Amino acid sequence: MQTKIFEIIEIDDRSTDKLKEAATILRNGGLVAFPTETVYGLGADAMNAEAVERIYLAKGRPSDNPIIIHIAGADMLSILTSSESEDMHVLAERFWPGPLTLVLPKRPQVPDVTTGGLSTVAVRMPDNPVALELIRKSGCPVAAPSANISGRPSPTKGEHVIVDLSGRVDAIILSGDCSVGIESTVLDLTGNLPVVLRPGIITPEQLTDVLRKKVVVDPGVLAQSQYDGTAYDEPPRAPGMKYTHYAPKAEMIILNGERHDVIIGMNKMRSEAEAEGKKVGIILFEESEPEKAAHGFFARLRELDEEGADIILAAALNSRDSVGLAVMNRMLKAAGYKMINV
Ligand code: TXA
Ligand code: MG
Repeated sequence: MQTKIFEIIEIDDRSTDKLKEAATILRNGGLVAFPTETVYGLGADAMNAEAVERIYLAKGRPSDNPIIIHIAGADMLSILTSSESEDMHVLAERFWPGPLTLVLPKRPQVPDVTTGGLSTVAVRMPDNPVALELIRKSGCPVAAPSANISGRPSPTKGEHVIVDLSGRVDAIILSGDCSVGIESTVLDLTGNLPVVLRPGIITPEQLTDVLRKKVVVDPGVLAQSQYDGTAYDEPPRAPGMKYTHYAPKAEMIILNGERHDVIIGMNKMRSEAEAEGKKVGIILFEESEPEKAAHGFFARLRELDEEGADIILAAALNSRDSVGLAVMNRMLKAAGYKMINV
C-alpha cells in the first residue's frame, strides 16, 4: 500500500487542502495516522466497522482490545453515548480538549468492533489543533489507538509512525513531537465511583479535586506500579502479563531504590554487562520532574533500540502517585515487570 505523507505544522491556508484530503480518506473508510498531544493515533471512522477492523490488522492488535474514540465537539459525544452524567459534564468542561478519556455507556449504533464487544465506549477530545480540524472536516467520530505496531513503544514523533506504519496505512500526518508523551488518563464513569483504568498526566488527585468525590485507582494499576521486584525470578501473574507492552528490543531492567544507590548499582551492572561484550543503554530521568520523564520515555526506548542496546537499565521514579504513577506504569510494562531493589 502506498502511504500518503502530509506534513502539517500549523493550521493555515496551506494546510487546508491536505486536511481535506486526509478527512476524505477517513470518511471513505481509510486509515489516517495523526498527531495528538499525548501520542500519535491511528484513526478510522469509529462508526464504520470495516474501517475499524483495518486498524486491528494494520497494528497487529488483539481484536478484544477496545479503541478510544476521538471527538471534536459535544455533538459528536451525543452520537456515541446518551449519558447525561453530571461527572461527565464537569470533567469535559474542565479537561477537554485534553488528555482525559471517559468510559461511558455506549449507544447501540457504535459498532462492537470499535468497543471490543463492550457495552461501554471510551471517548476523548484531543488537545491538538491538527487533530481537531481533521476530525471536524471528516465529520465522523474517529477511533484511534496509538499509531504503533502492537507491543512497540507508543509513537511520540512523526518519524516513529513512519517507521512502524509506512505501507500499512493510507496516510500519515506529520506534525512535530507530542507534548505530553504518554497516553491519556482513562477514567471509567460507569460504576458507583469513578475509577482510573489507566494513569496519565491528569492525575487521580486532580480528578478528585474537580469532582469533589473519591476517585479510585484500579487496584491492578496500583499493584503493578508498586511492584517491588521481590519476584524478579518469578514474574507476577497479572492478566496483562500475557501481552507485551511498549517493549523495546533490548532486555530492560528497572533499578529501584534511593537515587544514589541506584546509580552505584547501575554502574556495577553496566561494567559487568560490558565485560561480556554487551551494549548497555541507560534511562535516568530526574525524579523531581515526572512530566519530563513522561515526555521523553517512549522516545528514549526507541532511541536505545536504534543504537542497538542489548540491555537497558532504567532508574525507577520513587514517587508512585500523581504523574509518577503513570510513568512507572509504562516503565514496568516496558520492562516486563523486571525490577530489582538496590
Ligand atoms: O492518549 C491516548 O489515549 C492515545 C491517543 C491516540 O489518543 N490513544 C491510546 O489508545 O492510547 P490505545 O488504544 O493505545 O489505548 C486505549 C486504552 C486501552 O487500555 C483500552 O483497553 C482502553 O483504553 N479502553 C478503550 N475502550 C475502553 C472501554 N470501553 N472500557 C475500558 N477501557 C477501554
Ligand atoms: Mg497503545
